[in-house]
Amino acid sequence: MNTIETENSLGITFCDRLELAFTHGEGSLVWDESGKQYLDFTSGWGVTCLGHSHPVIIEAINQQASKIIQSPNAGFSYSPSRAALLSLLTQILPAGLVKTYFCNSGAEANDACLKLARKITERRKVVSTLGGFHGRTFNTLSVTRGTDNSDRYTPRQADTVFVPFGDVAALTQAIDSQTAAVIVEPVQGEGGVQIPSSDYLAQIQKLCHTHGALFIIDEVQTGFCRTGSFFALEQSNEKISPDFLTMGKGIAGGFPFAAFAVSDKVAAMLEKDDHGGTYCGNPLGCAISHAVVSFMLDNDIAGQVRDKGKYLLQKLQQLHKQFPKLINATRGQGLLCALEFNDHSLTRPVTLQCAKAGLLVVPTRNGILRLLPDLLVSRETIDRAMTILGTVLENYRGQECT
Ligand SMILES: Cc1ncc(COP(=O)(O)O)c(C=O)c1O
Repeated sequence: MNTIETENSLGITFCDRLELAFTHGEGSLVWDESGKQYLDFTSGWGVTCLGHSHPVIIEAINQQASKIIQSPNAGFSYSPSRAALLSLLTQILPAGLVKTYFCNSGAEANDACLKLARKITERRKVVSTLGGFHGRTFNTLSVTRGTDNSDRYTPRQADTVFVPFGDVAALTQAIDSQTAAVIVEPVQGEGGVQIPSSDYLAQIQKLCHTHGALFIIDEVQTGFCRTGSFFALEQSNEKISPDFLTMGKGIAGGFPFAAFAVSDKVAAMLEKDDHGGTYCGNPLGCAISHAVVSFMLDNDIAGQVRDKGKYLLQKLQQLHKQFPKLINATRGQGLLCALEFNDHSLTRPVTLQCAKAGLLVVPTRNGILRLLPDLLVSRETIDRAMTILGTVLENYRGQECT
């Protein structure tokens, strides 16, 4: 049996798969088993922020793996590589976030924050946003997308109230003295790259203060320079100091790793046995993350992303002009970009056609075509990707909405 047959018969999948099996990658490129090359504008769900096989990541893996991968009594003992990463993070974390815990996935980070928020406030209600994505654990799916998603597993874990993303009036109605937390992404990624007004987070922050609710900002997708600043909340019109900030994906450039940082108010309320985990900042993950963050700081990756993001968005806007009846909107913040068709059902076939032509993009569940290349992508690679996308779109001219 070949790879695809083996996986289809022996593996479990919960989605429609692309008939592709990738073997290796370098920079913005990946190759499949037949040796065909592709431009990767997915970064493996926004994870491989320095591209594939980046030397600093390989070096960090080799160095740390030759010393220790998992410490004895991991959480009970101390770790030099965890200490080094904690120190480095003080250079990039938004002011007011004073302590950090490491875990393995974005969902795990959000799950822990929801759990801790309920315990600290002794309240149950959580306000989340429609179209938001926070993970697939029982707690996080309860605050993801909307009730049509989470009610598959009734009763839901959290007492969640969903409000439209970006709608401060709706949030004002929803939040009250029973609200433990508000959880929100600064830019909705899985929701189709939805960018709110620059005062959105500040308004939520004020409402949380008024009602004594804790503010959880989920930067799992937007963090680590993806949107052109270390964290997207830095682009708000006012200083944002959440109670919890969750991080994942780009934090370790492809190694499964995540974190949550907390304010001093929250840190003061944390108690023994509130949380834990086998890996909780294992030395290998910490060393890789340290290498990634150091590289980002040394090379002004945030600044580079701002420039390249503008370039990619301009190219998408040109496509919009070229195909005004096919494309409804283009949007982006840094290198988190999207193209929305008038007819959302085109997104999947266009994605498949792009893959055939050598360009990998990410469709969202709500039918938006998302582009999130690695943060070191060159302008030439962006040009090549846009040429492929333009050629694919030519095939759909006949299906334009009028
Ligand atoms: C904003 C956001 N939060 C949380 C998650 C869940 O992260 P993970 O898949 O690492 O559990 C994702 C994943 O796409 C995400 O985009």
